[in-house]
Amino acid sequence: MNVLSLTGICRSYDQGGTRVDALRGVDLAVAEGEAVAIMGPSGSGKSTLLGIMGCLEPATSGSYLLAGQDVSQLLPAALADLRGRFLGFVFQSFNLLPRLTALENVELPLLYARMPVRQRRQAARDMLAAVGLADRMDHLPSQLSGGQQQRVAIARALVNRPRLILADEPTGALDTATGREILSLLRQVNARGTALVVVTHDPAIAAQLDRCIHLRDGRVVPAGFPPVEDAPMPADGHGATAMA
Ligand SMILES: Nc1ncnc2c1ncn2[C@@H]1O[C@H](COP(=O)(O)OP(=O)(O)OP(=O)(O)O)[C@@H](O)[C@H]1O
Ligand SMILES: [Mg+2]
Repeated sequence: MNVLSLTGICRSYDQGGTRVDALRGVDLAVAEGEAVAIMGPSGSGKSTLLGIMGCLEPATSGSYLLAGQDVSQLLPAALADLRGRFLGFVFQSFNLLPRLTALENVELPLLYARMPVRQRRQAARDMLAAVGLADRMDHLPSQLSGGQQQRVAIARALVNRPRLILADEPTGALDTATGREILSLLRQVNARGTALVVVTHDPAIAAQLDRCIHLRDGRVVPAGFPPVEDAPMPADGHGATAMA
């Protein structure tokens, strides 16, 4: 079973009369429990692709099945429900709410899921303890190191027991040693069966996952083509086209 399946996904933006084709026909399936890296130069469409996988933005065309369901056919409430139950997000900049403690940040998804307060507090405590932050639960994000903030973000992503974690450069704001710890935490999560999609610029991180997809100019670089920055691509490939 695939946790997600993308077919012919395109995404265009209109930038003041100029069309930017961020994605130009991406086919990609991620199997249950798989760990996939997405690499590619800046502007190649990695974050756009992750945003579509996370249902944060719609594709311009193509089809997207999440947990076997066509997301374009779901009503907003059903889509929000599927996202809440199925997905966890981790971002480069942590994205914690600054006025909430670590514990309150981790509780938030459970609050949205309408879990009763005592139950959700306990679940959040357990998850923070699992990421090694039992002694930091009442700290605000500003009172935590970058690595600790990312652990809180991972606890928040995991507290709903998602089947898939989407991480956009989760180690990008961390020093090498802390980045390694965060990756090792994500791999532990994956080893327990949660699928993982990680956008990264770091080949050492990509090498630790099951598979690596390279994007260039909004397309997946075909297997066998060198993924290096200025290797030739089989088709045309420019970031922006004038709107005709
Ligand atoms: N909201 C938007 N409006 C217009 N253009 C956008 C928007 N978001 C992304 N783009 C464009 O789409 C292309 C892909 O952007 P994207 O953010 O997916 O790249 P990326 O691979 O994540 O790059 P980076 O490694 O720098 O994070 C870029 O040309 C970008 O300028
Ligand atoms: Mg990006």
